[in-house]
Amino acid sequence: MHVNGMTIRRFASPATAARALARHVARCLAINPKMVLGLPTGRTPVPFYAELVALFEAGRVDFGRATTFNLDEFAGLPPEDPGSYRTFMQRHLFSHVNVAAGRINFLNGAARDMAAECRRYEQRISRAGGLDLLLLGLGANGHIGFNEPGQSLVASTHKTRLTLATRQANAALFRHKVADVPREALSMGMTTILHARRIVLLATGSTKAPAVRRLVRGPITPQVPASFLQLHRAVEVWVDEAAGARLSAGGE
Ligand code: GLP
Repeated sequence: MHVNGMTIRRFASPATAARALARHVARCLAINPKMVLGLPTGRTPVPFYAELVALFEAGRVDFGRATTFNLDEFAGLPPEDPGSYRTFMQRHLFSHVNVAAGRINFLNGAARDMAAECRRYEQRISRAGGLDLLLLGLGANGHIGFNEPGQSLVASTHKTRLTLATRQANAALFRHKVADVPREALSMGMTTILHARRIVLLATGSTKAPAVRRLVRGPITPQVPASFLQLHRAVEVWVDEAAGARLSAGGE
């Protein structure tokens, strides 16, 4: 299905979507072993990372020459903090596959000069030749990376304040204590995201259905940062039945 220039792919379950996405990434890496890959965190990509690890163990994917850039990180947390996204990625992907340590790129949430850290990240992405394929999750409030809904959006990598809803959605990383979830984060900006050559957004589960509808069929508005993906030439939105349940052309 194609809506507003976006390709929508529907899958029977989160598991089938995860398997298909892992195979897709493996194929892309086979074609372009030096691929520059943008990666998300969250619960949604966990089965996808598990599938990638399984493919790697079966000798069916090789990250040896690939470069990765993660989308975002909590501010104030050193990379080795148990709640950091860096730790999450180590646990779910990097410790199991052969991405070269020097080609894993992450925002450092503990950087003393956050503005300089954000500039460094942008430069690093440019020097790597830009993102070939950026994988995204979707916040239930329509955020991508940590670009939260608001009056305006920020173009480049920046420090941002997190909404309470987003802090609640991330509480599992902090022993379910919302108070322990950092209030600020660093994130790729909207232009950083929209400059990726290809984007695949993965959304699963019924809690994402309203945001998926707004992303695909709603007006382009900073109140739904993901709606800006309608402006991109090569976006695919991959959903399971539950997340895609409100996508039909009629009313909500
Ligand atoms: C976090 C991340 C986003 C992610 C979102 C959805 O806030 N910063 O990049 O897409 O959560 O998470 P989940 O997949 O757990 O619903």
